[in-house]
Amino acid sequence: MKGIVLAGGSGSRLYPMTAAVTKQLLPIYDKPMIYYPIATLMLAGVRDILLITTPKDMERYVDLLGDGARWGLNIQYAAQREPNGIAQAYVIGRDFVGNAPSALILGDNLFFGNGLSERLTHAAGIRRGAHIFACRVEDPERYGVIELDPSGQPLAIVEKPRAPKSNWAVTGLYFYDRRAPELVRELKPSARGELEISDLNALYLRAGELSVERLGRGFAWLDTGTPDSLIAAGQFVCTLETRQGMKIACLEEIALAQGFIDSDAFARLAAAAPPNFYGRYLKAFLADLEVAGRPPPLRAVVA
Ligand code: DAU
Repeated sequence: MKGIVLAGGSGSRLYPMTAAVTKQLLPIYDKPMIYYPIATLMLAGVRDILLITTPKDMERYVDLLGDGARWGLNIQYAAQREPNGIAQAYVIGRDFVGNAPSALILGDNLFFGNGLSERLTHAAGIRRGAHIFACRVEDPERYGVIELDPSGQPLAIVEKPRAPKSNWAVTGLYFYDRRAPELVRELKPSARGELEISDLNALYLRAGELSVERLGRGFAWLDTGTPDSLIAAGQFVCTLETRQGMKIACLEEIALAQGFIDSDAFARLAAAAPPNFYGRYLKAFLADLEVAGRPPPLRAVVA
């Protein structure tokens, strides 16, 4: 399975924070925002990742993530010249995706919850159709909204409706079978001039091939689109990490737990990290590992 992280856009809602720094590199408490969606893909078992961003910002991501090999990943990069819509990821990523199923995640979406890894692994195993996640929100008009029948089957999907028919927002994490790059060719730009991801999902829905998984109370899907939601996301991560002494979206830890790297490679990463809170965390984790003699079960429940 291939993974795409879409991390472009103008970030205008967070100006002036984003005047010189791309939104998805702003910190969520103790790490850059982009770590969280990458962690989500890793928990789904995805190792081949295409990061799509603006031509101007690409170099910064390369500085941060490189080719991803230190986490056992293969990260490639592509540019989106104008923010012409989320579904454009499949125009830009066509060659990268090839004939494989894929997962697309928005670079500003943060997911957290017990049992999330299992749900992601399950979604990544689906070979036919599209699989999306929905969360209940108070302000559905800001999102893609899914209307469901009483049994949870999707009836309609509408992007930012004026009069939402439900409170179920579609999150920015999408699993598609290998047809996504082909189906995107059928899309026309919307009234706001974008290739809408909701239109791609609607194609699958019309074919009876869209499954919707609702994330209930035990899950957090956090938005980072406004200064308030950005700091709320940071406080959420801070509260959990401080209370539990476990990190959310620590890429080194997830890479080890997923078997993308072995404990020797983890030890090298821990040794190379600066002696700050992050390096100390990796070293403490390594010490636990040496006592246990084997990789511990996944401690980072994020994604
Ligand atoms: O977060 C979930 C929502 O994301 C979904 O419910 C909506 O259906 C979906 O359209 C999207 O809505 P947003 O209003 O959040 O989309 P926005 O234009 O803000 O873009 C989301 C992120 O994707 C943002 O960080 C920038 C990036 N992006 C967006 C577009 C349109 C790109 O990198 N390129 C683009 O062309």
